[in-house]
Amino acid sequence: GKQVPGLKTGTNIQKRPILLGFSQLGSESDWRKANTLSIKESAEESEISLLFENAEQSQERQFEAVRSFIKQKVDVISIAPVVEKGWEPILKEVKQAGIPVIIIDRLVEVSDPSLYVTFIGSDFYEEGRKAGKYVLDKLANTPGPIGIVELKGTEGSTPSIARGKGFHEVITKRTDFAVLESANADFTFTQGKEVMRSFLQARGTSIRVLFSHNDDMALGAIEAIEEYGLRPGKDIVIVSVDGTRKALEKLMEGKINSVVECNPLLGPNLIQAVNEMIDGRTLPKRIVTPESIFTEVTAAREIGTRRY
Ligand code: AHR
Repeated sequence: GKQVPGLKTGTNIQKRPILLGFSQLGSESDWRKANTLSIKESAEESEISLLFENAEQSQERQFEAVRSFIKQKVDVISIAPVVEKGWEPILKEVKQAGIPVIIIDRLVEVSDPSLYVTFIGSDFYEEGRKAGKYVLDKLANTPGPIGIVELKGTEGSTPSIARGKGFHEVITKRTDFAVLESANADFTFTQGKEVMRSFLQARGTSIRVLFSHNDDMALGAIEAIEEYGLRPGKDIVIVSVDGTRKALEKLMEGKINSVVECNPLLGPNLIQAVNEMIDGRTLPKRIVTPESIFTEVTAAREIGTRRY
């Protein structure tokens, strides 16, 4: 049989069905639920049997899941990591066991790149830049000062770090743009609403723009803005990331102004990568999912077929 990258010499996993252990980081958002469903469905349609564990936002629980996969002698381990740091020791354990690893969605920060085979997911930095460019365009003819607030995702997670970086870099083009408040709201509706409420209490009508790192937090923020007596999408320009059905509906109602796409349907990519790896093919170190940005018009076109 062929050799699989990441496996100890002499290991042969040409048997079917392939056993795949997947550690999902949680169920915080509609994006995440769609991601989980996509992976489960794709596995079912293939010859791969899936062991699925949901860590509910705990890295420690992800470690436990990975250790249980090693014990169960899975052929491949895939991880959607909650945060970037702290993965080196556990990934070394996996390497010791001769099991190849595929990282999906979010990145792990490791000094030894041989600890995983490939990373499949979005370019979050580019998403942040797209959001920033949208705000620059939208307010091109509006004189400053422009007060911006930012709802960040989970602290230490790739999408939060990279979206923030991309957005901030782009908006510095306008010296009269100022980020007044920026805080983590963990990618959830509830925290998005709560944190937006506190932004409004602190800054009131000086807030002209909200950049929300995901749709769920933006939807929560919309409720907070309306309760405060302002009009989302009009008094406050809102740009969000993901492209869930609920956010596209708000886009069509004019309560969100723009949604940067982040595609959760990574199941087919993951299953294809597992199969190619098992067949002994060499995978690229990085597999990027192509994405665009939604406007009111494209939202209307998309909404009919939206699955999440
Ligand atoms: O890692 C992807 C991000 O995580 C999505 O943008 C967000 O909705 C999810 O919780």
